[in-house]
Amino acid sequence: MNNKYIGVFDSGIGGLTVVKAILDILPNENIVYFGDTLHMPYGEKSPEDLRKLVLNNCKFLNSFDLKAIVIACGTAGACCMQDVIDHNDLPVFGVIDPASKLAAKTSKNKKIGVIATKAAINSNAYEKAIHKFDSSVNVISKATPLLASLVEEGRFTNDNIETKTVLKEYLQIMIDEHVDTLILGCTHYPLLSSMIKEILPDVNIISSSKCAADALKSALEANNLMSDTFIDQKYFVSSNPERFTELANIFMDKFNSNVSLKKLD
Ligand code: DGL
Repeated sequence: MNNKYIGVFDSGIGGLTVVKAILDILPNENIVYFGDTLHMPYGEKSPEDLRKLVLNNCKFLNSFDLKAIVIACGTAGACCMQDVIDHNDLPVFGVIDPASKLAAKTSKNKKIGVIATKAAINSNAYEKAIHKFDSSVNVISKATPLLASLVEEGRFTNDNIETKTVLKEYLQIMIDEHVDTLILGCTHYPLLSSMIKEILPDVNIISSSKCAADALKSALEANNLMSDTFIDQKYFVSSNPERFTELANIFMDKFNSNVSLKKLD
C-alpha cells in the first residue's frame, strides 16, 4: 500500500476528466492537480515551448510527496512523454497508449478515427501508438483545435449549438471514412461525448481519460501501490481559480475542494 499523492497535470480542466475517472475506480487515491490555465491551449504551442511548460509543471508537482505522475493531457503526452520520464524518478502514466491499445483491440473494420489538438495530431503520436498494437489499422486523424477552448469556455452542455455545429464539421470525415471507433485524444473531449455520440451514433467512442485511469489502476495494483486511505485532494491553477472551480462544479461530483492560484517561475 502507498498513500502518497498522484500528481496530475493538464493545461486546464481537461485533466479533471482523468481525475474523475481515477476517483471512480480508485476512490482512496490522494491527488495533487495542476492546471496550467495561464498557458492554455497547449495544442497551439511548439514542442519546445511545451517541453518547458511540462517540465515546470512536473517540478511543481514534485514539491509534494508523489508516488506517480499522470500526464492528463494528450498534447503534453504526445510531445513530451519521454522528457517527463527522463526527468523524473517516478512512474509516469499518459493517456495515449491505453486508448490506442483499446481501440486497436476492439475496432472491427480496422478504421480508427482520432481527434485531438493540432500539436498532438502533428506529432503523429496516436497513429504511432495504434500501429504499435496493430500495424494493419487505417488511422484517420483530425486536428480539432477549437474544441478544448470551447470546453474551457464552459460550452460543453448538450444545448450548445455553436459547439454542435463545430463538432459536425470536424466529424464529417469520420462518417465519410466509415470509422467504427473514435479516440477522444484530448482530455477535454470526454465532456463533449454525448454530443459526439449524437453525431456518430454507430461509432465506438473511446475516452483517453477513462483508458488512462484503467491503466493506472492495473499498474498500481500490480505493484501494490494503491492507497488504502483517502486523505485529500489539492488543486492548483496558474490563473483564474474561480473560473476553474465554477467549471469543475458542473461535472465533478461533489467538487468542494479549494482551488489555489499557483504561478510557476
Ligand atoms: N487537455 C489537453 C489535451 O489532452 C490540452 C488541450 C489544450 O490545452 O490545447 O490535449
